[in-house]
Amino acid sequence: MHIAVITETGALETRVAATPETVKKLIALGGSITIEAGAGLASGIPDGDFEAAGAMIAKNAKDALKGAEVVLKVRRPSSDEIKLVPKGALVLAIMDPYDNVEALSAMAEAGLVSFAMELMPRITRAQVMDVLSSQANLAGYRAVIDASGEYGRGMPMMMTAAGTVPAAKVFIMGAGVAGLQAIATARRLGAIVTATDVRPAAKEQVASLGAKFVAVEDDEFKQAETAAGYAKPMSAEYQAKQAALVASHIAKQDIVITTALIPGRPAPKLVSEEMVKSMRPGSVIVDLAVERGGNVALSRAGETVLTENGVKILGPLNLPGRIPASASALYAKNLFSFLETMIDKNTKALNVNWDDELVKATNLTRDGAITHPGFQPKA
Ligand code: NAI
Repeated sequence: MHIAVITETGALETRVAATPETVKKLIALGGSITIEAGAGLASGIPDGDFEAAGAMIAKNAKDALKGAEVVLKVRRPSSDEIKLVPKGALVLAIMDPYDNVEALSAMAEAGLVSFAMELMPRITRAQVMDVLSSQANLAGYRAVIDASGEYGRGMPMMMTAAGTVPAAKVFIMGAGVAGLQAIATARRLGAIVTATDVRPAAKEQVASLGAKFVAVEDDEFKQAETAAGYAKPMSAEYQAKQAALVASHIAKQDIVITTALIPGRPAPKLVSEEMVKSMRPGSVIVDLAVERGGNVALSRAGETVLTENGVKILGPLNLPGRIPASASALYAKNLFSFLETMIDKNTKALNVNWDDELVKATNLTRDGAITHPGFQPKA
């Protein structure tokens, strides 16, 4: 069973899909692993560390992918990479399948057996394979670190002989995995933290981290969680009530971090231009939802916007990639844990159980077609 790992070619992608730890584990399961030279460098893993763990190093992607039965990646393979992947190989990656039918069709036509790690069901057995959680947690952490770096004042209250620095007021919008870690990080730095979410379950989680919960808690709010634990799109009436409550709150905040998402939909707009204008100069907003359309009116993907009233709005792309060594370590472990379920321990060969709910939920393409019912090309 030959497994290949290549260097990520996407802009800003610093992560790698294997670590020396997962290489050792895959070899123990009967795999042989080839890694493209330099694939781990941006995550602080030199080729020598992979070699010491038992991997072979190939000078380029073409050589690494030769004869591969499994390809481990961070991002969906590009059109150039697809050409190099052997037909029938399993490809595990964050596939970004929404609204990307053409790219999925290209993988299908090339005979790739692709799996979207972000579609992993959130059930107990699959927690160790949950890339959304492992990466969002780090993104939430990094967002606070970046915000505090851009904020021209201190985060904790500091009483000095020369005067008192007040604690920063930090507001987190969306208390899912990223938001909860942002709350915890801002608290550790000594900020005064408040948070909002539309899911009632978030209220207790926010409080348990020592932050104050701010939300319109009407009947709609009480039913705003799907069976899968995700947020539902809220009615226009609810959004208006929420906006009114949030508007007066935001005007008093120093740092706002938005993380609100609804799976498969554009991000809800939560911070209007007026709200941004109400903040004092030097305030910082970080829009984690910028890749999905953004929660903040003025944010721009991959840019820092400085408004006329002196508010900085960060629209970071790939925040987990800004903490690459940790992100790669957790992501590689997620991949290993899923791939392990597809390997027969006795024969040490691949043996995919196509009836397994994890396989069914994540498989995008197989036998030349898009197999996933959620991503069929429109007739
Ligand atoms: P997400 O990334 O889809 O969304 C982030 C947050 O934004 C969510 O908390 C969502 O409720 C919130 N949101 C959506 N619209 C909003 C609005 N208009 N205003 C304010 N907030 C809004 O969510 P994520 O981080 O993937 O977590 C979703 C749920 O899944 C959480 O309950 C989390 O605890 C749960 N979960 C369960 C796991 C398991 O294995 N059982 C693993 C990881 C998460």
